[in-house]
Amino acid sequence: MHTTTTATLLEMKRRGEKITVLTAYDWATAKLLDDAGVEMLLVGDSLGMVMLGLENTLAVTMDDMLHHCKAVARGAKQALLVGDMPFMSYQVSPEQALANAGRFLQEGGMHAVKVEGGRDILPAVRKMTRAGIPVLGHVGLTPQHVHQLGGFKVQGRTDAAAQRIREDAVALEEAGAFSLVLECVPAPLAQVISEQLTIPTIGIGAGPGCDGQVLVFHDVVGLYDRFTPKFVKQYAQIGAAMREAVRQYVQEVKDGTFPGEEHVFK
Ligand code: KIV
Repeated sequence: MHTTTTATLLEMKRRGEKITVLTAYDWATAKLLDDAGVEMLLVGDSLGMVMLGLENTLAVTMDDMLHHCKAVARGAKQALLVGDMPFMSYQVSPEQALANAGRFLQEGGMHAVKVEGGRDILPAVRKMTRAGIPVLGHVGLTPQHVHQLGGFKVQGRTDAAAQRIREDAVALEEAGAFSLVLECVPAPLAQVISEQLTIPTIGIGAGPGCDGQVLVFHDVVGLYDRFTPKFVKQYAQIGAAMREAVRQYVQEVKDGTFPGEEHVFK
């Protein structure tokens, strides 16, 4: 049994203990992040960009997501595992949402699913939560709406837009969401929402007033260099270290330094 559950997160919010969340897409990384004590691992559809080289998340499929979820589920022993429902896997009808969410739990080994959107998706959220599937909401900048939003931009800058996000947040909590991602919204708005909700908020580009923080793992360790958003803190430059290691390998194979005596069976 994994040690972190949705109840654990609620209790952490009550205690005022911050919640840590990172994305994970494969067995090795999931194991590493789990060992390091991250409480929630999100198999995000961001994998389309950082693992598959796509421009955005729209082309990611259920098959793509389940493939990566299965690997993460084999690697993590403690964290709460959340699978991101891809574009068009929950928007067509609440029935479609329920059937696909069920696959994340039954086939993918996840404990919960994440969906993007506010009041428009409440029937789907209710359907899933009533069937016993924990749902993580996601409002503010919702990357699956990138074409409608006109790019990856900060949301909720006007009073009216901020009010809409606030109302969406409350509605999602009422529909049964166990937690809510707030992406790219002004910090004061995220703080107000976090204070208003009973469920924990998880911020990404939403300031320190949230109950927890999430980042894309590849951004945190410097493995994705196409674009680094302002809200990312890079804790390591693994990409540069990997490039240098491989450059040395190429050189040593070519000049005969590798394999050395110690790598050879006599
Ligand atoms: O897909 C993803 O990784 C996400 C997080 C950045 C919240 O939605």
